[in-house]
Amino acid sequence: MTKSSAPGKIILFGEHAVVYNRPALAVPVMQVHADVEVLDSPRAGIWINAPDVDLHAELNTLPSNHPIASVINDLFPLFHISPLPSLEIKITSTIPVASGLGSGAAVSVALIRALSLALSEIEGTSIVHPLSDEQVNHFAYEIEKIHHGTPSGIDNSVITYARPVYFIKNLPASNNKDTGGIIETFKVGVPFTIVIGDTGITALTKESVADVRKLLRMNQIHWESVFDEIGQIALMARRAIESGRPDMLGELMDQNHTFLQELTVSSPELDKLVGAARKAGALGAKMSGGGRGGNMIALVEQDQAEAVASALISAGARNVIITKVE
Ligand code: PMV
Repeated sequence: MTKSSAPGKIILFGEHAVVYNRPALAVPVMQVHADVEVLDSPRAGIWINAPDVDLHAELNTLPSNHPIASVINDLFPLFHISPLPSLEIKITSTIPVASGLGSGAAVSVALIRALSLALSEIEGTSIVHPLSDEQVNHFAYEIEKIHHGTPSGIDNSVITYARPVYFIKNLPASNNKDTGGIIETFKVGVPFTIVIGDTGITALTKESVADVRKLLRMNQIHWESVFDEIGQIALMARRAIESGRPDMLGELMDQNHTFLQELTVSSPELDKLVGAARKAGALGAKMSGGGRGGNMIALVEQDQAEAVASALISAGARNVIITKVE
């Protein structure tokens, strides 16, 4: 039996602009995770058991573009195993879906790792080592394309490395192995606390990304300059985090949120939670991820975290997570 677990993630700065090659920052969220177990099966076939999404099926009965089937079908050829083994794959997750916490990428990463570990143990395979992080990230990015259409690659990267990540999407001309982009992990000078508030509204990232693309087509000069501003914010945020000045992040979050409102990807519910967090003493707050629903984040002093969390619940948050970035 092999097992693997992958954390959730949250984007701190730079969402949407990252699709247009500006930098973004994201961190893992260890409080939530996807877990995968691979076991020998007494029944012939590859059986997938994912109770959270009510999926109980044999691989061949799933459509070929199903994200879970795609992970498995992409991996098998690499190992040159014939005939295929009989396996039972159990997938569970505490990460809410379609809310900006990277649920799809976390399932992909945990599944790729658990399955590659299981396959590398089978006699006769051409690969006797589990996959490298870079390979895991490459496969996870391929699956993100099924989930999101034109993903930047930030989700699969931060979840694969489970470290704070500064990310710039690959320029099309780049020859790198395609993992979505240029990934730099970096040190956190002084740990800091963020509160994540969930609107409880699920929203498709694909749609908000498509709407931003429509805006861009209508006034490219204006929106490119907005993306530049967001990129600068992400860069300044990285410097503040590395140099042990997380207190500077609050104002940067507020500024980033204003640009996301302008891009029409915030929503009344997100704005309400952002306002409630600031009122309860957060140093700054913004929506996070695709928007229109999903999560927002607030920077807090450690001793304010509970007060901000309960203000978010009073303002309608479905769930809150307090997490330390270190
Ligand atoms: O909603 P999330 O957390 O998956 O984030 C989407 C982030 C975007 O920048 C809007 C899209 C992307 O692919 O990076």
